[in-house]
Formats: sequence, C-alpha cells, structure tokens
Amino acid sequence: MLLLIVLSVLPQCAPVPLAPPCETSCRWCNSRIAVCDQQALVSVPSRFPPEVFTIDLHGNKITQLPRAAFTNMSTKLSRLNMSNNCLLYIEDNAFDRLTNLFSLDLSRNKLTLVTDYSFRGLRRLRDLYLQNNRIKYVSNNAFLGIINIRVLNFRGNRLTEVPWAAVRMTSAVNLQKFDVSRNMIQTAPAIPKIDSLSYILNVWFGENPWCCDCGLTPFLKSLKTTDAIQDRKSMTCAAPEALKGEKLDVLVAGIDGIVSRLWRCH
Ligand SMILES: *[C@@H]1O[C@H](CO)[C@@H](O)[C@H](O)[C@H]1NC(C)=O
Ligand SMILES: *[C@@H]1O[C@H](CO)[C@@H](O)[C@H](O)[C@H]1NC(C)=O
Repeated sequence: MLLLIVLSVLPQCAPVPLAPPCETSCRWCNSRIAVCDQQALVSVPSRFPPEVFTIDLHGNKITQLPRAAFTNMSTKLSRLNMSNNCLLYIEDNAFDRLTNLFSLDLSRNKLTLVTDYSFRGLRRLRDLYLQNNRIKYVSNNAFLGIINIRVLNFRGNRLTEVPWAAVRMTSAVNLQKFDVSRNMIQTAPAIPKIDSLSYILNVWFGENPWCCDCGLTPFLKSLKTTDAIQDRKSMTCAAPEALKGEKLDVLVAGIDGIVSRLWRCH
C-alpha cells in the first residue's frame, strides 16, 4: 500500500540517470576526449563517452590488451595513446573494432612480437609508434589491410632484420617515416625500390651493430643511390674487428674499390 503511494507521487518521466561521461579513473573527459594518464590503471577502463575521439592512457600500468578491452569502445576513436605502460602483448584482433583509429602510440612498453593479427582491422591507421619496446619479430602480414600508413617507428627494439616485407604488404605509398634505428640489425638486403613508396620517405637505420662483411654489399650499394636515410652518420660497423667503428658511408664511398678488395667480394 505504502509502496503504491510512493510510486504514484513519483513524476511520470523521471530522467533515467546517465552513465557517467567517463570512468572515475580518468582525470577529465568531455564528449570527445578522455584524459586518463598516470592514474596507475592496470587495465583499459571499460566505459568512455560514447562518441570519444581521443583517449590518453599514457603512463599507467596496463599489462595486457585483451580483445575485450575495446568491445565497447566507440568506433569513432581516432587517437589512442598507451605510451609508457607495461604492455607485454596484444591479443590477436584486439583492435579490430577501431576502424577509424589513425594514431596509435604503444611506445615505451614491453612488447616482444607483432603478429599477423596484432593490428588487424586498423584500416585507417596512419601513425604507429612502437619505439622503445622489446620487439624481436614482426610478421610479414602484420600490416596487411592498413592502407595508408604514414609513420612506422620501431626505434629502440630488438629487431635483427629490417621488416621490409611487412612494410611492403601495406600499400605504403604514403609512408613518410620509417625508423628502425637502435635495434640489433647486423645485416640487410638492398633497400627495396623506394620510388614505389612515398617520394618524401625518411628512413632511420643508425645505432645498429652493422656487420660490414661481403653480405652487406648489396645494402651498401643501395645506400649509394638513396637520399631517404636521415642518420647516415650514426651507421657504423660493429664487426669485423678491422672495420669496427667505421662509418658505412665511408664504405659506400669506396664501394667499388676498398670494399671489394678488402673482402674479396665478387
Ligand atoms: C560492455 O557493455 C555492456 C553493456 O553496458 C556490459 O554489460 C559489458 O560488461 C561491457 N563489456 C566490457 C568488456 O566492458
Ligand atoms: C603520447 O603521450 C606522450 C606523453 O605525454 C607524448 O610524449 C606522446 O607524444 C604522445 N603520443 C602521440 C602520438 O601524441
């Protein structure tokens, strides 16, 4: 009886309480931007404004990117910054809902692998920041379906090969910055024909332990004909002993004389 009276005095159209515009774990949000950096978060918060465009999660303690992390995320999300977390891995297809994401910053984490499915579905991705992780391996199909990649930053990882195959799988016509400096690359094949790529392509290859033996000759020859390399001065030989510290550029200049005589390359 009492209950009925209470119900009858309630206004007919009581406003339904709205979901909070943003998790309490964020510093602030509006309808388009969620700023949730340095909050000691260990996972991606589950609720964001429904039309959110930019999410900043840098400097938290997030260790994993399970697929479920983005199941409720706005497909309008365009920028996601997860720099400086503790990410160890990205679950296959984790980002596949984020079809409008164009900037993804995963730098300064602990990622070791980029698989065929790590970035699957990110077809508008333009800028991908992976510097300062522990990436050893990038699968050849890692960027399949990404049609407009512009920046690929792998500086400060543990790559032993230049992931050209993966790059060429994207239609990399707009690639402008490709950074594999400060990795563990000892040798590389000739730089693939860059004119099929962007005419303003800039590449960073320095601070790698180049092994300046015969096998490097095709690469050195291709260095001679490209002006895409931005850090030639930081490209030095780590081996063999006789050439330790020598700049690759010096070898390039003497490619037809010194190099072939020194190594008896054909
Ligand atoms: C997604 O939203 C639904 C409905 O609000 C909720 O039940 C579910 O737990 C959410 N999923 C995640 C992973 O947060
Ligand atoms: C991500 O956040 C860090 C820390 O503020 C900043 O240095 C970095 O430039 C941001 N990344 C992008 C792509 O804006």
